[in-house]
Amino acid sequence: MMSPESIKERVQTIIQLPALPTVAMEVVEMVDNPKTSASKLGKMISTDQALTAKVLKIANSPFYGFPKKISTIDFAIIVLGYDALKEIVISISLVSSLQKKSDSHFDAKGFWDHSIASGVLARRLARDLNYRISGEVFVAGLLHDMGISVLHRYFRNEFKRVVDIARETDLTFLEAEESVLGATHADVGGWLAERWNLPDHLVEAIKHHHAPGRAERNPELVSLIHCADVFASRIADVAVEFDKGVDFDEAALAKLQLTDESVLNEYIANYTSMIQTDIDQVTHLEIVNEGTKAHDRRVAEA
Ligand SMILES: [Fe+2]
Ligand SMILES: [Fe+2]
Repeated sequence: MMSPESIKERVQTIIQLPALPTVAMEVVEMVDNPKTSASKLGKMISTDQALTAKVLKIANSPFYGFPKKISTIDFAIIVLGYDALKEIVISISLVSSLQKKSDSHFDAKGFWDHSIASGVLARRLARDLNYRISGEVFVAGLLHDMGISVLHRYFRNEFKRVVDIARETDLTFLEAEESVLGATHADVGGWLAERWNLPDHLVEAIKHHHAPGRAERNPELVSLIHCADVFASRIADVAVEFDKGVDFDEAALAKLQLTDESVLNEYIANYTSMIQTDIDQVTHLEIVNEGTKAHDRRVAEA
């Protein structure tokens, strides 16, 4: 068995920091600039084909629930809003820099759907519980399992053994990881997030998403990501193999005041139908349009 220290060392030294694509950096800067017009931003994103395809994929995913097909970046900006677009561009760049194709032990599409669902559910849950919603809620949800991608890509044989053990025994996925690696994908993701100098509360959310009680800096964010992840694991359309055995952490439920089982079940039922039937589309559209109008007013006034 590899020692956790040697894995940590490998994660922190072997993995080259994939540079954030230049266009993504430019998009982030442009989005931050209140004088930026929608068409200018659209042109910038459109120069990167892979980025364009992924933004459109997210805009059209059932989790965003927009009723019409979004086939251009200009339309995506109007529908999603500037802030959401910025989060999406940054997260896409980080996730895609790691991901490899599907094989018998890893389902790339399932991973991507699970990541997006966790991001959207985390943001939705934050809104429903009246927590102050920051862009980081979506980003943390999207990135929480990036340790899985690291294991699949850089620790291929160990990852295969973990998956086989989880498939063939009663062990949970986390227990299988512990038995093969002496560490979990949450540890590995946390180490990489540190290596990438991501903000501390993102590192913490990634590192402790399966043990939210260990969070010190921002227990609320970690609890939100944890619960969103467990919600996702309960929804057949976005459940993944590596969530085998995950369950709600009592401390996280208490932190979010979700200890009442009937209330919790109501949330699960609501989110399941939200993902399956896109009932949120109208509200979402209204909120985003408000944001865009406000932005356009600021541009006009500037
Ligand atoms: Fe996880
Ligand atoms: Fe997860």
